[in-house]
Amino acid sequence: MSKPIRVAITGAAGNIGYALAFRIASGEVFGPDQPVHLNLVEVPPIMKSLVGVEMEMEDCAFPTLTGVTRCDSDHLEEGFADCNWVLCVGSIPRKAGMERSDLIRINGPIFTNTGKAIQAAAAKDVRVVVVGNPCNTNCLIAMNHAPDVPRDRWFAMTMLDENRAKSQLAKKAGVQVKSVKNVGIWGNHSATQYPDFFHATIDGKPAVDVIKDDKWLQTEFIPIVQKRGAAVIEARGASSAASAANAVLDTVKGIIRPTAAGSCFSAALCSDGSYGIDEGLIFGYPLTSDGKSVKIIQGQQHNDFAKSKIQITLDELRSERDTVKDLLK
Ligand code: LMR
Repeated sequence: MSKPIRVAITGAAGNIGYALAFRIASGEVFGPDQPVHLNLVEVPPIMKSLVGVEMEMEDCAFPTLTGVTRCDSDHLEEGFADCNWVLCVGSIPRKAGMERSDLIRINGPIFTNTGKAIQAAAAKDVRVVVVGNPCNTNCLIAMNHAPDVPRDRWFAMTMLDENRAKSQLAKKAGVQVKSVKNVGIWGNHSATQYPDFFHATIDGKPAVDVIKDDKWLQTEFIPIVQKRGAAVIEARGASSAASAANAVLDTVKGIIRPTAAGSCFSAALCSDGSYGIDEGLIFGYPLTSDGKSVKIIQGQQHNDFAKSKIQITLDELRSERDTVKDLLK
């Protein structure tokens, strides 16, 4: 049997963490023959609930789960020790009426410690996915506090937006969601993101030619995707949980599995300057993976409409970066 992959999940007893941990333990992501060890991290007042999570893990008798370590967030280095993956879910979620950026000064400081602990304790091949909002800028903060962890290991989650976008396009076209491919999410996981329908395909044809309704695509589809998180909060009275957990799994799968031809997956990563984006900003792009490394899809052409949308989300990320400049080193 191969060595277990160690996965840390912060906020592991919260709604997203709870949905996520069991699916990782089940072998769904790393495969039925790959053992997994989970490091479940929570803030001290929630540690008791984590005992219950561990009990349920035992009660699932997953053949792939070799063990669970419970850790409190006052001892993050223990929480991240030797971890190959750190899934940063824990943070204060937004409530109705808030934008994700309103959380920036609340959640930002958590990610200073997260970055330091990842650098100090995680495995040499660690990869990090930040989910807690505002996830792009939280990821930027953590990355800046872990200068020895290569920059291509850091991701913030825009996969939930991609999944939302695919479902909306499928519904509009009257097709199954699996027919929709190549929907890249550009920029911030926020109401400024740009879900790129121009490069999307439906059963291999351009989505714009199948849907034949540019007005809907430009003035309805984009805002629906941009504001879906808020709509879920409004309807559920709490922010998305099962769909967010599902998107974390899809992000990890996107990174570790080769991307099918003609497809992409979405995540925000440390920009190398591609498409004129500031180097070092955590920016959402359409990506491909060969199963080992992830690349930004190059050479996509954007018309003036798309360029203006990308500029808006870039400006927002620049301003988030300015807001936390004291937390960046
Ligand atoms: C989401 O998109 O559902 C999450 O980022 C939660 C939120 O605040 O919208």
